[in-house]
Amino acid sequence: MSYYADFAPGSGRRFPRAAFTSDAPRIDLNGVWRFHLSPTIAAAPEGMHDPGFDDSGWDELAVPSHWQLRGHGAPAYTNMLYPFPLDPPFPPDENPTGDYRREFEVPESWDGMGAVLRFEGVDSCFKAWLNGHELGFSTGSRLPTEFDVGEVLRPGRNVLAVRVHQWSAGSYLEDQDMWWLSGIFRDVQLIARPPGALDDFFVHAGYDHVTGRGTLRVDTTVPATLTVEELGLRDVPADREHVLDGVEPWSAEIPRLYDAVLATEGERVRLRIGFRTVTVEDGLLKVNGKRVLFRGVNRHEWHPRDGRALSEATMREDILLMKRHNINAVRTSHYPPHPRFLELCDELGLWVIDECDLETHGFHDVDWRGNPSADPRWREAYLDRIRRMVERDKNHPSVIMWSLGNESGAGDNLRAMAEWARSRDPGRPVHYEHDRDSRYVDVYSRMYPPVDEVEQIGRRAEKPLDDAEADAHRRGLPFILCEYAHAMGNGPGGLSEYQELFERHPRCQGGFVWEWIDHGIAHPELGYAYGGDFGEELHDGNFVTDGLLFPDRTPSPGLIEYKKVIEPVRITIGDTIVIENRYDFRDLSHLAFTWRLEEEGVTVAEGVLDVRDGRAPLPRLPATSGETWLTVRAVLAADEPWASAGHEVAWSQALVRPAVRRTTAPHRRSPEDLGTFDPVTGRLVSLGGLPVDGPRLDLWRAPTDNDIGMFESVEREWRAAGLHRVRHRLLGVSRDGGELVVRTRVAPAAHDRAMLATYRWSTEEDRLQLVLEVEPIGDWEDLPLPRLGLRMALPGWISRVEWFGRGPGEAYADSRRAARIGRFAMTVDEMQTPYVRPQENGNRADVRWATLTGEKGGLRIAGDPTFDLTVRRWTSEDLDAAKHLTDLVPGDKVYVNLDIAQNGLGTASCGPGVLPQYRLLARPASLTVAFSRVDA
Ligand code: GAL
Repeated sequence: MSYYADFAPGSGRRFPRAAFTSDAPRIDLNGVWRFHLSPTIAAAPEGMHDPGFDDSGWDELAVPSHWQLRGHGAPAYTNMLYPFPLDPPFPPDENPTGDYRREFEVPESWDGMGAVLRFEGVDSCFKAWLNGHELGFSTGSRLPTEFDVGEVLRPGRNVLAVRVHQWSAGSYLEDQDMWWLSGIFRDVQLIARPPGALDDFFVHAGYDHVTGRGTLRVDTTVPATLTVEELGLRDVPADREHVLDGVEPWSAEIPRLYDAVLATEGERVRLRIGFRTVTVEDGLLKVNGKRVLFRGVNRHEWHPRDGRALSEATMREDILLMKRHNINAVRTSHYPPHPRFLELCDELGLWVIDECDLETHGFHDVDWRGNPSADPRWREAYLDRIRRMVERDKNHPSVIMWSLGNESGAGDNLRAMAEWARSRDPGRPVHYEHDRDSRYVDVYSRMYPPVDEVEQIGRRAEKPLDDAEADAHRRGLPFILCEYAHAMGNGPGGLSEYQELFERHPRCQGGFVWEWIDHGIAHPELGYAYGGDFGEELHDGNFVTDGLLFPDRTPSPGLIEYKKVIEPVRITIGDTIVIENRYDFRDLSHLAFTWRLEEEGVTVAEGVLDVRDGRAPLPRLPATSGETWLTVRAVLAADEPWASAGHEVAWSQALVRPAVRRTTAPHRRSPEDLGTFDPVTGRLVSLGGLPVDGPRLDLWRAPTDNDIGMFESVEREWRAAGLHRVRHRLLGVSRDGGELVVRTRVAPAAHDRAMLATYRWSTEEDRLQLVLEVEPIGDWEDLPLPRLGLRMALPGWISRVEWFGRGPGEAYADSRRAARIGRFAMTVDEMQTPYVRPQENGNRADVRWATLTGEKGGLRIAGDPTFDLTVRRWTSEDLDAAKHLTDLVPGDKVYVNLDIAQNGLGTASCGPGVLPQYRLLARPASLTVAFSRVDA
């Protein structure tokens, strides 16, 4: 069988071992290589491995990179579907094949040493030749491969040739929900192996939380000595158990590392050791004797121009962003990350679930027929993958669990992986979500269950398994959500309901939001491309853009919300201020607590709180007359490696003085004195000379990805009900005292249900006041409305918005914890949230008043008491029709929505929909707003 269609994962490779750097010489083989792409294997050039081959006509390609992102071939996105027939282990004949060549010099000083050629990641299958000698082949795209090359290496010029196939038997094991991208996408190195070099080592650094002692032993392949200066260990035998008093343990919160040196006859290795012990006991997952709570995310490696070929700067940026948003855990979905990422996790502090490069999800579509997980012919490939992950990453304190992979059904090959991992490394529990009965895992893990089910699991009262023994085992396990809260588009909604359960039930040890970053590809015409934008035959559209970060790593509102919901310090403002520590290990001495008093959003006093034993007296507050809020913030008192002093960790607000309700003055003037109304339709057409398309009832929003949903789709119901195409019929214009009353019936074609909308216009001093009354008629049942409120349009020169209400970011019914009451100002453009696929966004909640202005003045809108506000340069229909941000073109108007409410967001793009309490049902409702002209 051809190697690329072989069940065997590789040949000619060295045994897997830890990733480490030492003082042994190495040659970096990253950089510019010669490259040639052929559409099939048959078309690939012959003899390319021959050192004398003439590659002068070839292109150049950077290593590491993906060829599809450097002008060769095209990316393709599928979630579950394999983009080739299910015909294992055969790849299709149309198998793009990239040939790589480069020359390099080896100094004379390497003479007498062995050498290893190391590839950190090649997608999906490759064969390598050095100086014309075939070294072997390998699969396992996100796993390292090493070849012994000492025999064939020579001083001076050497020629390395690598043939990479996009598809291989290995592709059947790599059906992760992501772009299919090929090539040598991680580093390539040549590492000298001096005589007496250390092949491999395994650091065992435990912490006994009862005695405070550390134990340290480093198993090595050749005799080695260990030095840890700080602990008084100097050149001691490495493989002896050293018991160390007074060790400071490692945790994600306090990532204490000890520098060490491991020395053999041949080389010296610098280590960073973290002491920690991971156990599952009393049904809980504990680190250093304490239950830990994961505030996690799933992280794919992603960069909008480089795909999965990440720079160290990008890896660091990811971790800094996580730490700054209170995230303490990462699942490396769904493959081991670049090894440097884990070093940074050790250093900066994150709990890591290291997940193996394995997914066979596409077999789900054929009822799991032929699933490799249950086919013994694939056993060796499965074991190969877990070995290469565990051996590479075993020395990282941050890695606290091994995950077998993702969505690969069930089968004995997975069980074999679990058994191997446990026997090689008893110090880490094993995770795998698709083992539904949790028979061979140490943690019960689920994705996207609704809150009520999580609550049952929290009480260990979940639905029993048929097999009593299996049930007892699973019921005794700790529980995590390896995925929840699908962050696709606008959302996720409903984070806090999960968090409350994690905090209430010790068994619920937190979760990992799906996912960290949108995998949008930077595109010259489309902004960011997603599935289908490269002409793929099969694709899953924008399902690939479902992250808490936009592709350029700007935090989305979802991340800001998550930060707030998971904050590790809870501040409650009452008669006193109570500060609750929700860290697992850290005290609060690294935080300073500040307060600020704002009247109508303007700071009137501020200071620092004196917190003792988790309490601080309320500061003495000056008298105010307008609506007044007290904000208390927990900020870093000093710089941390991941943020500067002053960085906000947590906050809370309390209303100190409510707004004084306006007392409506008698109507002295008629509405027509302040505004012009269309005599036929009764619509306002100008206000103090400012042209307006007067406000009228609006029910529609551009459906979010969560409205569109995966299983339950509220969008489908909305369209079926015609909520995107309602018409307004005038019932009458009349006078009621000083009021101008316009009555309308608002309804879509082909239905008898409607909304009666009555607009009552009156004046109040120089303000034109509008009371909207809405009455649903006919059978609306439980159909939630997208939104309920008013839409109007203003001239396009309106460019700036200032408001007093929640902000600065957008907020929706079930995603509003992060929006605080204050006074904010932004341009209209800044108010838009750039979801990669355009959809409803930018709602500002609980707005008391807003001014919308431009060079010619503008409009002030005051709520009685509040309204929700959206301002944009296109309509909801334009948003709905747009496929990419570049489809949104400003026109000559600015559209303004003043809402009573909108439906919540939920997370139905993959998971449960909007919780009942956040559904906007059709009920009689009213909204009061007053308009006044703002002069230029
Ligand atoms: C999960 C899967 C992830 C991703 C997610 C939806 O089922 O594990 O890889 O596909 O759904 O975005």
